[in-house]
Amino acid sequence: MRQFIKEIEKSGDLVRIKKEVDWDIEAGAVSRRVYDQYGPCLWFEKIKDYPQGHTILNGPVGTWRRVAISMGLAPDTPVREIYAEYEKRIDGRVKPNIVDRKKAPCKENIFVGEEADIYRLPAPLIHEGDGGRYIGTWDIVVTKDPDTGWTNWGMYRFMVHNKRFLAGWPQTTSQFAMMLNEKYLPKKQAMPVALVLGSHPVDHMMATAPFKPGVSEAEVAGAVRGKPVDLVRCETCDLLVPADAEIIIEGEIPIDAIVPDGPFGEYPGYRSGTMAEGVAFRIRAITHRNNPILSMTALGAPVDDSSIAASLTAAVGMKKGLQRRGSR
Ligand SMILES: Cc1cc2nc3c(=O)[nH]c(=O)nc-3n(C[C@H](O)[C@H](O)[C@H](O)COP(=O)(O)O)c2cc1C
Repeated sequence: MRQFIKEIEKSGDLVRIKKEVDWDIEAGAVSRRVYDQYGPCLWFEKIKDYPQGHTILNGPVGTWRRVAISMGLAPDTPVREIYAEYEKRIDGRVKPNIVDRKKAPCKENIFVGEEADIYRLPAPLIHEGDGGRYIGTWDIVVTKDPDTGWTNWGMYRFMVHNKRFLAGWPQTTSQFAMMLNEKYLPKKQAMPVALVLGSHPVDHMMATAPFKPGVSEAEVAGAVRGKPVDLVRCETCDLLVPADAEIIIEGEIPIDAIVPDGPFGEYPGYRSGTMAEGVAFRIRAITHRNNPILSMTALGAPVDDSSIAASLTAAVGMKKGLQRRGSR
């Protein structure tokens, strides 16, 4: 993501905010206002209550210009051309590189067990009325099929519950929930999980894509980026995560715990109901780069990262699905 930040800064699509900003509502409100004006990606460089260097980046692909840049295209590439290029590239597969943990930037700081305190990171309270601080908005949630070894990337919201627990809301139709319900629960095993923040924007877009089970989003991300993704093994489980991501939260989904999740200001611009039963994520380790950059999207009424990413990845997924069924 750091290379991408350099590129969008050069093209005039990034603004650094040096003035201190509060994680409590302020970063979220400023970000929403800027989305409403089709504005730049925002890099909040000083967050209240956190040391200099613990920063938040909102809106990596909140405009089509930034999507184009993330794919190595000219910033003013027309939207139709971005779609055509994306559609072509996702049929490719580029195998990831597995790198040594000593060479992985995401391991520059490692906190395991009691040391893995989520409050080390400036999770934002994004909207007034949110049930808590959402650390996972622009994330990648990594899980693995215990029978086949296939690894899935999905994007699902995750809220801070307490120092060692997050609460999430993967829909029952998500591959996350499918794997949990069909593979781990019957075996009475906790499902290993890793939440990735601040990876290359293409990796996050892949997490929003409705690929079929068995498709490796890491391989498709390699094809879309035009370069293999570097992956590294987690500290506390055998999941592989992007090695140059900013932050990795490792954990497991226990079978004997639920925690309250939500409400959350969701993508259509409405609040999602009331606080309800959520999926518990027990934190086992946190690793991060020096000066970690927490990626975020202050979800709301379009246009923002969510509507842009999903309108690309889901629309092309639907088109390909229709074509497989005989549509022209
Ligand atoms: C910003 C953003 C947040 C999302 N949050 C959730 C969520 O909390 N729960 C969910 O089930 N899907 C959520 N989605 C949609 C999923 O990412 C999408 O359906 C994706 O295909 C899921 O991956 P899967 O097909 O591997 O399950 C979100 C999408 C975006 C763009």
